[in-house]
Amino acid sequence: MMNDTLDYIQEYTDSFEPEVGIILGSGLGNLASLYKEYTIPYTDIPGFVSSTIEGHSGNLVFGNISGKRVVMMQGRFHYYEGYSMEEITYPIKVMKNLGVKTLILTNAAGIVNKSFRPGDLMVITDHINMLGNNPLIGKNDDKLGPRFPDMSEVYNKDLIKIADEVARLLKINLKHGVYIASSGPSYETPAEIRMARIIGADAAGMSTVPEAIVGNYCSMKVLGISCLTNFASGISSKKLSHQEVMETAVSVNKQFRQLLIEILKKI
Ligand code: HPA
Repeated sequence: MMNDTLDYIQEYTDSFEPEVGIILGSGLGNLASLYKEYTIPYTDIPGFVSSTIEGHSGNLVFGNISGKRVVMMQGRFHYYEGYSMEEITYPIKVMKNLGVKTLILTNAAGIVNKSFRPGDLMVITDHINMLGNNPLIGKNDDKLGPRFPDMSEVYNKDLIKIADEVARLLKINLKHGVYIASSGPSYETPAEIRMARIIGADAAGMSTVPEAIVGNYCSMKVLGISCLTNFASGISSKKLSHQEVMETAVSVNKQFRQLLIEILKKI
């Protein structure tokens, strides 16, 4: 199947060789529209499943940003959609095979650390996997990575430093924190968020961890950035809604986009 996928993409893109892969989370999809040279709907790509969520269109987009050849996922696959871990992370393996060395993962997440505010951006320093599953379960492909991959630096320290430098120049107060992933689609309960805080999480979401695990496993440098869209459950009296998540994500879209564009200049 991988060969069919790669053949299709290479034919469609005139053998474009991306060096950076970016997964665009909620509200960031327009970055792809601004820089598209080739756009392939997931539904056309052999081996790809298609995304079902509002705010996530499903295209693989190729373009040049800040002098870097980039492949972007406009819309990602989530575990809660009913896809397998294998299906969710298949595009990461495709990117690896296309030559991607650096993987930038973005998402929307809820605030667990009470010193953060909706609209803050947070670089992910580490994660906690509460998905109850792991994308590497099953037979190992030794050509991609080892059976028991080290996870002591999933999020590359040099990339975090670059993100910090760029944020300083752009006068963005970039937070640092640990991202905890649970499956969703229900938001967490207040008790779950209290637990998340006690075990060391700063932000909570429903994505990113599978892609980060596979990226790290196949020797990509990974950078993760969360747009903190809302106080997680139980922190404020407000109920959580996807609408609030989308509204906040859209309101910081320009800042988030600028941060990514400047980061790409430096990697
Ligand atoms: N919890 C989980 N995922 C999320 C949240 C949240 O509060 N906000 C955006 N994605």
